[in-house]
Amino acid sequence: MTADSAPPPNGEKSEDQPSCERRPSIDIAVLAGDGIGPEVISAAEDVMEAVSARTPLGVGLRPRHVDYDADVYLKTGRLFDDALREELLSSQLILFGALGDPRVAPGILERGIILAMRTAFDQAVNVRPVRLYSGVESPVRGVNAENCDLVFIRENLEGAYTGGGSTTHRGTGHEVALQESVNTEPVIRRATRYALGLASRRRGHLTLCHKTNILTAAGDLWWRVLQDEARHFNDVDIDQVNADAMCLHLPYDPGRFDVVLTDNLFGDILTDLGAMVQGGIGLSASANLNLEGTAPSMVEGVHGSAPDIAGRGWASPFATILSLAMGLASLGHTEAGIAIESAVAAELSGGVPISGVGLPGGTAGAAERIADRIADGTAAPVPHSLLTALTPSHSSMG
Ligand code: IPM
Ligand code: MN
Repeated sequence: MTADSAPPPNGEKSEDQPSCERRPSIDIAVLAGDGIGPEVISAAEDVMEAVSARTPLGVGLRPRHVDYDADVYLKTGRLFDDALREELLSSQLILFGALGDPRVAPGILERGIILAMRTAFDQAVNVRPVRLYSGVESPVRGVNAENCDLVFIRENLEGAYTGGGSTTHRGTGHEVALQESVNTEPVIRRATRYALGLASRRRGHLTLCHKTNILTAAGDLWWRVLQDEARHFNDVDIDQVNADAMCLHLPYDPGRFDVVLTDNLFGDILTDLGAMVQGGIGLSASANLNLEGTAPSMVEGVHGSAPDIAGRGWASPFATILSLAMGLASLGHTEAGIAIESAVAAELSGGVPISGVGLPGGTAGAAERIADRIADGTAAPVPHSLLTALTPSHSSMG
């Protein structure tokens, strides 16, 4: 299942480089995909170029295109097969645009590629920040840059996402559908330990979000594991909030949260709510992290392929670019990540619309301005950036 032929864990790969080149370079597999995927990926490519060109950032980025999208699926029926797996495995990071096309039935590409990849590459946690950058307006009154800086750690392999279940008595009027949620202690423990480590490098507060009052079997396991693991983190306070109550607290008082640990399904749902709280899905970044360095991590905007707005040139590039920043920081290239985030934050501070016809110069214009800001290096780092706490994941595990 996992990678025998995985790249070295921390991205220090130097073959094929001119001998004068001393800095490490990172091979990035870029899967642009469908809908707005190619537009936001092209924006991220401008950013990668700017990072590579700025020598003091200390890393060269070598993007390599992976040819896969709904067209390929429709023509060949390929999903996450050995060839695609090997192609992605030979990189140190996967940058993902979006997959999803109205011609393909829902679930096929989602399960057949995205979930298959998360599982095959053991991407155990999905890091999803909910941070409102200065200059961005939240649709929720009272939410601002001072009180909105939290991060979800979504367990990324199990829960309702393993796909187990059954349908019986179909078409009889008495159909029965069973849908399993799988919760195993080692997987929960690993995500919990990562979340605690992150909390101890941030503000020292971790909230478990589950539904322990009703889903007593799973919820209780999560809570007991958290209490057990928290004994090793004296600087982290823990508490828990039920998922329904989270829907009230998150928009009303995001400032009460630092790190939120949650299961796969709750994490999927709540991070869309989080995306709106922080100013829109176009700003919502994610990193699917392999915590041991045995296979590449994958970074992607939380938004999907948005076929309804594809091809107009005004999709928000911010989520993908911020995801790239997380990917670099997770490989230890924190400075490069911070240069990207700072440039994005500077761009957003002007209060520009984040997508749509009001986005000056469209997706490409925004990318160009961000790349320019990286080139001139004047953008100020955002305070308490999450990126400074995203040390190479495998070295932060005990
Ligand atoms: C997300 C998406 C995915 C998920 C789908 C596309 C598989 O909704 O990343 O949040 O459910 O995890
Ligand atoms: Mn989702």
